[in-house]
Amino acid sequence: MKKSFACMAIMFFLAACNSSSQRDIVVHSEPLPESEGELLYLDMKCPTCHGYQGSGDGFLSAGLEPKPADFSSVETMGSVSDAQLKSAIRNGKNTGMPAYPQFTDRQIDELVRHIRSLSQPPVN
Ligand code: HEC
Repeated sequence: MKKSFACMAIMFFLAACNSSSQRDIVVHSEPLPESEGELLYLDMKCPTCHGYQGSGDGFLSAGLEPKPADFSSVETMGSVSDAQLKSAIRNGKNTGMPAYPQFTDRQIDELVRHIRSLSQPPVN
């Protein structure tokens, strides 16, 4: 009898431990990418030069001439066609902008869609 009481006490203790450890789970508030284009943009480290918001202020941009274009500017994005953006990504530009020949057409479309979404209102 005494033994089974001790056993139950231990089980309650373990159950209590278990539920308190569940409360310690850390919830990360960092937002997940909202599109495939944004995921590629982050994964391929475009922000190192172009910045997270596309304003051209990534830490590598300091040493670049010409500077990365400002994707958040309605004026800049209004003066460039989708074909120009796609070609810059696929072929690079004999400047600081590297070529990314490994992307499929669809991935490049998604990247362009993401870049276009960075200016407000988006310019197409
Ligand atoms: C090492 C720095 C660097 C990285 C990394 C980089 N870029 Fe660039 N990018 C530049 C620079 C610098 C320019 C401007 C080049 C010029 O004007 O000749 C540019 C230009 C561009 C342009 C053309 C803009 C226009 O107005 O014609 C696009 C589109 C672009 N980048 C997309 C991307 C994407 C997408 C990625 C990631 C997959 C990326 N870049 C990664 C430096 C970079």
